Formats: sequence, C-alpha cells, structure tokens
Amino acid sequence: MTTLYRFITGLALTLVAAVAAADYVDTTHAFREQPASEPDTLVVLVPLNSTDGLPEWGEATREHFSRALAAQDFDGSMTQQLEILAPVGLPVDRLIAVGLGEAAELARADAEIMGASLANYLNLGKAGSVQVQSALIPDPRLNTAIVSAIAHGVDLVNYRFDRFKTEAEPRPTQSYEWLVADQEQAGRAWDQLNALAQGVFTARELTNLSASDGNPAAFAEYVRQRLQPLGVKVTILGPQQVLKAGMGALYGVSKGSQHGAHLLIAHWRGSDDPPVALVGKGITFDSGGYNLKTDAASILAMTGDKAGAAAVAGTLEALARQKAAFNVVGIMPLAQNAISGTAQLPGDVVTAGNGMTIEIVNTDAEGRLVLADGIWYAREHFQPQVIADIATLTGSKVRALGRDYAAVFSEEEELIETLKTAGELTRERVWQLPLGPYEKIIDSTIADMKNSGQPGAQAGAVFLQRFAGDTPWIHIDMAGNGRYEDTSQPPLIGATGYGVRLLTEWVKLYAE
Ligand code: BES
Ligand code: MN
Ligand code: ZN
Repeated sequence: MTTLYRFITGLALTLVAAVAAADYVDTTHAFREQPASEPDTLVVLVPLNSTDGLPEWGEATREHFSRALAAQDFDGSMTQQLEILAPVGLPVDRLIAVGLGEAAELARADAEIMGASLANYLNLGKAGSVQVQSALIPDPRLNTAIVSAIAHGVDLVNYRFDRFKTEAEPRPTQSYEWLVADQEQAGRAWDQLNALAQGVFTARELTNLSASDGNPAAFAEYVRQRLQPLGVKVTILGPQQVLKAGMGALYGVSKGSQHGAHLLIAHWRGSDDPPVALVGKGITFDSGGYNLKTDAASILAMTGDKAGAAAVAGTLEALARQKAAFNVVGIMPLAQNAISGTAQLPGDVVTAGNGMTIEIVNTDAEGRLVLADGIWYAREHFQPQVIADIATLTGSKVRALGRDYAAVFSEEEELIETLKTAGELTRERVWQLPLGPYEKIIDSTIADMKNSGQPGAQAGAVFLQRFAGDTPWIHIDMAGNGRYEDTSQPPLIGATGYGVRLLTEWVKLYAE
C-alpha cells in the first residue's frame, strides 16, 4: 500500500517537474534549382555592383529593377536591404533586394546577420511564401555557403520563448523557397546548420526557463528527452548518488535547496578516440547563498546561471544531429544555490571528489565548486584527451570584457588558438586572460584551497586548474554572454545560446 502510494506520488512529482520539449520555430525551408512555388514575396540576393537584375527577366523588368535600386543608392553593399515596387510582369506582391557586398569575402556570421534582418523585416509585414533568388552568385560552392548561412540566420532570429504566455503572439510561419545553384549541396549545408540551430534553441530554452521550472531534476529530464532519441547516452545521477560518489563540492552547493544536486552526463560516441569532455556550470538559480546577492537586478539575472550547462547540452545535441565523427562527453553539474537552515555556511570546509578540501570563504563563488567535481568526474570516468569547461563564472569577467567576448584561460597555446578561430567564425568571440602568476591567490590557511580570491576571474580559473591537473584544459568564463536584455536588438532578448556554436565548431577544429 505505502509502496503503491509512493509510486503514485513519485509519478505525480515527476509529471509536475517535467518541462516538455516542443518545436522551436515554425518557418520552413526548401532548396531548389527550379521554382515550385508561387511566392507572394521575391527576394533577390545582390552582390556588390551587380544591380542589373536576374538574367531570366525581360529587358523592361531589368531596367525597372536597376533604376529603382540606383534611385535609392543601392549598390549591393553589405547590409543594404531595399523593398521596391514590383515591376509589372513579375507575378509577386513584393520585391526586396538584399546587398551581399563582395560575395567571395562574405563571412558566415555576416550572412547570418543578413538572414536575421531579412526575417525581422518580413515578420513585420504579411509575407507568407518567400522565394529567394541567388542566381547572381553563380559559383556553386560560394552559392551554397552564402544561402545556407542566410537561411540559418532566418532560423536563429525566429526563435521565440513563449511557453509561459497564455496567448503568445503568432510566430513567424513563412515558407522559404531558396533558388540555388546546387540544391543537394545547399540542402545538406542547411541540414548541418539546422542541427546547430536546434542545439542553440535547446540552450536558449534551458537558460530561459524560470529557476523553479528549470530546477536540476527538470533540467536533466529535459536534456534526456531531447538527446536520448538522437543516440546520445544520457545518465543522470541524483543527490544521493552525488553524495555517495564523494562529490562534496557539488553536493554542498545544493544543501540549502529542496532541489538536490544532480550530475547529468550526455555521451555522443561518434568515434573510438578518447573523448573531448565539455563541462558546463548548471546553477539553476544563484541566490548567492548566505553571501546573498542583495541587488534586485543581479539576483534576477541568476535564472541564467545555468547557461554553461545549457551550452554543453546544446553542443551535444548539435553534434549528434550532425552525426559528427567525434567522441564527445558533456558533463553538467546541476545545483540550486539557495538559503535555508540546511544551507552551506561561510567558513565551511567541503571535500571534493578528488579528495581535496575547500574552505568556502564565499558561498556566492559556487560555480567553481560544482565545476570542480564535474571536471574530476570527467577525468575519473572518461580519461578525456582534453577538457573545456564553460561557465557564467565571475562578475569580474563581465567588468573586464562585457558581452562582446568570453574570457578564456589555458596553458595550451593550441587550445587558445583553435578556440579563437571558432570564435571568429561563429562570432562568439573569446579573449585570453592569464593564469599565471595567480596560482597562489586561492591558497587557504586551514584547507587545501579556498574558493575565492582576487582578481576574481583569475581566482575562478586557477581554482579549476587544480582539478584539471595534467589533462589539457581550457576554461571559458561566459558571464554576461548568456543573456541579452537590449531591446534594440530584437533577435536576442533573453538567452542567447552562447557557446553552442563556439563549442560545436571548436570540437571539429580540435578533434579533426
Ligand atoms: N554567477 C555568478 C557570476 C555572474 C555575475 C554571472 C554576473 C553573470 C553575471 C557567480 O556565481 C558569482 O556570484 N560570482 C561572484 C563571486 C564572488 C562573490 C567571489 C562574482 O564574481 O562576483
Ligand atoms: Mn554566485
Ligand atoms: Zn553563479
């Protein structure tokens, strides 16, 4: 009887805790060499100084097009976008020209931004079916790269976080038909980028979830739902298993919360090489603990303190959807840094999984504590060839670099270089800060180390370095990069999904 009762209430709790994954965007794409749709809107991609119109148009239509562009000083420069009156004879309601600049020099990230601003513009009007003409980029490889990146930009900007709205604003629902030089190549390129976009959306969704809905168990369950069907092996350790495994640093952070610590492990075994390990900070809410955050805006933003773990989950999703030929394991220590009579206290000493003792001089320096055990677990159970950790770790990093760069720390030049390259490609940029001569700023008088010191970003980094030991390791402090509040940039209100694109490209550069 009691067992049955427990089973039923357990089931009910699981149901309440679950946050269902749903489709993230409602737009569709088709890549064709020959048109199959009758669009209401025609978009022409125009390289610099190629303003004569499409070869298949009649003389009068071409004349109308080039005169209308010239009248508005449109020469095909990058970021130019112009709607003109559709000439008589073209069976469309609207005609839009998008400038590419020098097509051969167009960066992927700029093409994505073009797609994003095109979509933002179309979303204001009543476009339903959109045909995009790329015939003015004849080279097939260039054509594929540019068109697929623009389509990717459309998708990235059309994500909406609307699960908490009873009456959500209608989402963009356009169908896009891309007329391309090689439909198979373009379709395949977009499939890869769509895999990436799905990973970005998962990271955004997880980061955006309210702290209570996105508690450690719910976060882990959401990731299981998304990743397991893709062939990713998902393992979830609950609070008792975390404690039994000796991960006292992770466990300690969660002691004040009814939502106990979890360790989430997602393993994509795309090859038999030793794995690349990605460890992400998953603080589902950071109150600061007894070193309470007292500023209203700061504490509110700490719903997003799970963005590192979200980036790792999204990266695993992207790589699995791409069927990438790499062995990658994501380790996500999840905990809520709360206050109660059972919470960890300033001055407490905890023992991490590797046996090291840590003096908790500040309960608000909790991210490095959960990461320490995550890094230890990765080494102990997976013997990775390299570890990258990613975390919204320090306010000090935000003051140093703001939102335009994440800070990276490593002794290995190759890790820094490959990460910088991935950062430039995806425009999720990184800037190196030094580890030395800061090694001793976290020495403790009573334990093996303390969890905080000055300068703040370096203290976090050298703390984690001690747990990485002799495994090649890079630390990414993405504090400030995970959420965007600037409403003048409509694509990026709320979670950005920072790190998914960076890490997915980096894994390829590094493991290949
Ligand atoms: N999650 C915060 C860091 C943070 C700050 C992320 C702002 C995003 C935006 C982290 O846990 C924290 O509280 N760090 C403190 C540590 C300090 C009190 C030792 C910091 O850096 O201020
Ligand atoms: Mn904190
Ligand atoms: Zn934190």
